[in-house]
Amino acid sequence: MAEVVDRKRWCEGRVRELHAWTDTLYSLRVDAPVQPFKAGQFTKIGLVIDDQLVSRPYSYVNAPQEVPLEFYFVTVPDGPLTHRLVQLSPGDPIEVMAKPAGFLTLDEIPAAAHLLMLSTGTAIGPFLSILKTAQPWQRFERIVLVHAVRLAAELSFADTIERLRSEHPGQFDFVPVVSREDTEFAFRARIPALIEDGRLERHLGLEIDATRTQVMICGNPEMVKATSATLVARGLTRNRRREPGQVSVENYW
Ligand SMILES: Cc1cc2nc3c(=O)[nH]c(=O)nc-3n(C[C@H](O)[C@H](O)[C@H](O)COP(=O)(O)OP(=O)(O)OC[C@H]3O[C@@H](n4cnc5c(N)ncnc54)[C@H](O)[C@@H]3O)c2cc1C
Ligand SMILES: NC(=O)c1ccc[n+]([C@@H]2O[C@H](COP(=O)([O-])OP(=O)(O)OC[C@H]3O[C@@H](n4cnc5c(N)ncnc54)[C@H](OP(=O)(O)O)[C@@H]3O)[C@@H](O)[C@H]2O)c1
Repeated sequence: MAEVVDRKRWCEGRVRELHAWTDTLYSLRVDAPVQPFKAGQFTKIGLVIDDQLVSRPYSYVNAPQEVPLEFYFVTVPDGPLTHRLVQLSPGDPIEVMAKPAGFLTLDEIPAAAHLLMLSTGTAIGPFLSILKTAQPWQRFERIVLVHAVRLAAELSFADTIERLRSEHPGQFDFVPVVSREDTEFAFRARIPALIEDGRLERHLGLEIDATRTQVMICGNPEMVKATSATLVARGLTRNRRREPGQVSVENYW
């Protein structure tokens, strides 16, 4: 293994638990001596398959101060890595890139009254990591987490969300979106449409406004693109280090 894994960049972790939320969604909990990271960042995890290290980026779901490390993933059809990750058992070795990466972090987000976090599928992960830290609650009057999934069973982390709700009453809203079945509690739509037709703002009693709102978007690149375009049409701009704006994004593929 020494020849296929660069020990300067990768640390050997151990699987603590593979928790199945559904038959396609899993939390992989790992112990590994990684470098400190900021909530919202990702690392790479990998397995040696046929003498090759096969690795992919995964967001940290745990907050920086929490152990074990947690990664939330979906098995994609014919996905080379995810189909191996689901075969892991407690105690198995797993490679974790020591150094974190990524800029979907609160220190990149300008001051604002309201923070909207918009996610599809597994991309709720980095937002949970951020929400498990003290910083967002000190910085924003209201925080909204939108989680869009196909089926209601894919709304994982209900306990974490319920805890955030009870710890931050009046400051936190969770908005579930279930696109492929009717439920009594979720919007049945896509995120860009909910913004375009004003339903999200009416539901929250909150206006998306370039002077008061920051938006973080993560997940399906087509959702990221369409939602960004909707927000730009509403007068918001992409947030860049040299040119601060209101819309910060991360694509998962
Ligand atoms: C910055 C970053 C962070 C990421 N964080 C996560 C994470 O926390 N959890 C996670 O599950 N994935 C995450 N991904 C995607 C992940 O790296 C892999 O692509 C994914 O797990 C599939 O790996 P694979 O080898 O099985 O298939 P791949 O060959 O890597 O992917 C095959 C196809 O599956 C689809 N796909 C990939 N990832 C997803 C996904 N998450 N949800 C829906 N469809 C997908 C895409 O169409 C992709 O082209 C992230 C990607 C990036 C760039
Ligand atoms: N049983 C299974 O085998 C199974 C189950 C779930 C997932 N998967 C696989 O896992 C992968 C990921 O699925 P996923 O459901 O986590 O992710 P996803 O396809 O990105 O869907 C998550 C949410 O994003 C929405 N969305 C998709 N495209 C969008 C766009 N252009 N604009 C706005 N919203 C958009 C979806 O709405 P729509 O519903 O309207 O597309 C859904 O509400 C896929 O490869 C899938 O095949 C397999």
